[in-house]
Amino acid sequence: YISGDPYHIVGGCAFEETHLASLNPIDQFSTWLQEVSQCPGIEEPNAMCLATATRDGKPSARMVLLKGFGRDGFRFYTNRGSRKGTELDENPVASLLFYWEPLNRQVRIEGTVEKLSDEESDKYFHSRPKSSQIGAAVSRQSRVIPDREYLRQKNAALEEEYKDKEVPRPSDWGGYIIRPSVMEFWQGQTNRLHDRIVFRRPGGEAEQGRWTHLGEDGWVYERLAP
Ligand SMILES: Cc1cc2nc3c(=O)[nH]c(=O)nc-3n(C[C@H](O)[C@H](O)[C@H](O)COP(=O)(O)O)c2cc1C
Repeated sequence: YISGDPYHIVGGCAFEETHLASLNPIDQFSTWLQEVSQCPGIEEPNAMCLATATRDGKPSARMVLLKGFGRDGFRFYTNRGSRKGTELDENPVASLLFYWEPLNRQVRIEGTVEKLSDEESDKYFHSRPKSSQIGAAVSRQSRVIPDREYLRQKNAALEEEYKDKEVPRPSDWGGYIIRPSVMEFWQGQTNRLHDRIVFRRPGGEAEQGRWTHLGEDGWVYERLAP
């Protein structure tokens, strides 16, 4: 745990005092996600807000589902021709945000983004229910369409076409991985002295401040004023 620095957890599910579970933020995230997953009232613990931006810095945000994470980063799947896909093409950085209201917790993640391999995208695509695979093939996400009927007809046509066949992954559908360089854990407290611990990967010596602590795996961390 943080050297002499107790980390409190409060909220609907975990009122007991505890400590930062890990000095590696990926492991800390894993601990929080497990706790959140056991919390009744949080139906989609892996729902996150994904923020991207155009090359000239105009931001946009939307919810997506986290579909895997590890030391290498955080994975999600989408249509790469969508608005987010276009923005990631021209500006491959992103920010992720989780907010778990019953536990009064927020996690912010920032990093660079890369496309997942065709193999990984195929594997995930074909793990989904056939109706979702057809849905992905139907929808050229974020493009203007005439009406709902257009989607309904296209869906019916593809259902017929792939009745006895595997649905091929659309060429513009696939995954991305966000390789984090900043991760902040925010734990709300009843007294408003909320805890904020931010991990970052330092680029150089100069970035080590007086209150910078050494984490694991090349991470350092600091406490921020709430
Ligand atoms: C809870 C929730 C989860 C979602 N998960 C995804 C997802 O995993 N992938 C995706 O492409 N869209 C997902 N969406 C839809 C997106 O929010 C968004 O409408 C869509 O991706 C188009 O975004 P864009 O036009 O900014 O590219 C989700 C929406 C909600 C509300």
